[in-house]
Amino acid sequence: MRQSAMDRGIQGRVAVVTGGARGIGRACATVLAQAGAMVAVFDLDAENEAAPMEVQQQVRALGAAFFYRHVDVTDARAVGAGMAAVRESLGEIAILVNNAGKGRAPVQLESMDESEWDAAIALNLKAAMLCSRAVIAGMKQARWGRIVNMSSIAGRGRGEQASLAYAAAKAGVLGFTRQLASEVGPFEVTVNAVAPGAIMSGRVIPRWEARSADARERMTAPIPLRRIGRPEEVARAVLFLASEDASYITGTTLDVNGGRYV
Ligand SMILES: NC(=O)c1ccc[n+]([C@@H]2O[C@H](COP(=O)([O-])OP(=O)(O)OC[C@H]3O[C@@H](n4cnc5c(N)ncnc54)[C@H](O)[C@@H]3O)[C@@H](O)[C@H]2O)c1
Repeated sequence: MRQSAMDRGIQGRVAVVTGGARGIGRACATVLAQAGAMVAVFDLDAENEAAPMEVQQQVRALGAAFFYRHVDVTDARAVGAGMAAVRESLGEIAILVNNAGKGRAPVQLESMDESEWDAAIALNLKAAMLCSRAVIAGMKQARWGRIVNMSSIAGRGRGEQASLAYAAAKAGVLGFTRQLASEVGPFEVTVNAVAPGAIMSGRVIPRWEARSADARERMTAPIPLRRIGRPEEVARAVLFLASEDASYITGTTLDVNGGRYV
């Protein structure tokens, strides 16, 4: 695919964004659509029934093709069927943003419930493997592909409010990213991670609003930019890594945290 000065190599490509109905994922879907991608979103409607409709309206308003499917990304069969439906509807998948994920309130190790651990690892780590596995053959065959995995500051260093399982999973995402990058690099497929700090997504806003001015100040004081990030600021990092501008970048992690982790 040729690249014009305005086109960042995304025009006409099919992008799948997991957990794209809300928050950072929705921002990723929107910036990819703005850059000319056809966008498919996988999410769980149950969490917020209006969310899939809202992202659909946002993407379609940009004139981009859009596909939505209820897919639990921890379920290998649902992921396989979802990717097949995207291919059928939009074409071969060139860009995958493994964004779906969720942290839980931290608990001490002695109280760690095994099923909670397994669920956190399944959503925040295993799902990236399942989704990548379901698209990699097409990317290798096309000799072009972009996989961007959502990690977290909790996986880079240490999260202030992260659970053990979440921190372990998000650190695991970085190992998965590096190792897969070396496996698929010979096929011109790049694999990178983005590690956000605190970002004002829908699930963070109520917690932020419940904080006193002092508590907000304590939260932003260690951040050199002195504020919480916006979903669009993470999405633009994802867009860069998905674009032709990042053609020689693979296996790396881009920190989007206002300088909190350096
Ligand atoms: N917001 C932050 O401060 C922050 C910081 C660091 C990392 N992250 C990471 O960024 C990603 C997005 O976070 P967010 O804050 O936008 O979250 P969010 O809760 O606003 O959005 C996550 C979306 O994922 C979907 N989802 C959850 N489980 C799913 C499943 N099994 N299958 C399919 N979809 C599923 C949800 O329905 C939701 O729409 C996550 O991986 C999160 O861990 C967020």
